Amino acid sequence: MRKLTVSAFLASAVLFLAYCTPKAGKTVAATPVETKEQIVARYPPDQLEKGHTLFTGNCAKCHKLKDPGSRTPAEWDKVLQRMIPKAKLSPDDGALVRAYLIANSKQG
Ligand code: HEC
Repeated sequence: MRKLTVSAFLASAVLFLAYCTPKAGKTVAATPVETKEQIVARYPPDQLEKGHTLFTGNCAKCHKLKDPGSRTPAEWDKVLQRMIPKAKLSPDDGALVRAYLIANSKQG
């Protein structure tokens, strides 16, 4: 009986650790997503324009261009973590596409 209790305890401890520990790195964004205003303040208009060009040139290869205003900054941040590698953009170019999309995103 005692043995059973101990293994039941261990089993639930393992389950607890498996499900309740935040996954490191990947899913949890390291820094909070900047707001639209912060992005606009940080990127000069010509950089945002370059982001726009990169967006139209690289993000319509597999599907139609998505409307920047269709998503909030946080939603763009999440999707772009998958799409920037798909589009094979360099980290710098990816950052410009991200800046352009967040600068024109839905307020959220
Ligand atoms: C190599 C092909 C490919 C390229 C290039 C690509 N995408 Fe996608 N994208 C997909 C596929 C496939 C899906 C649908 C499946 C999914 O969500 O992963 C998708 C879905 C999306 C979605 C909807 C996802 C959601 O969960 O709402 C958005 C927004 C998006 N892409 C934006 C972009 C942007 C911005 C770029 C340019 C940086 C880009 N995509 C480049 C293949 C691509």
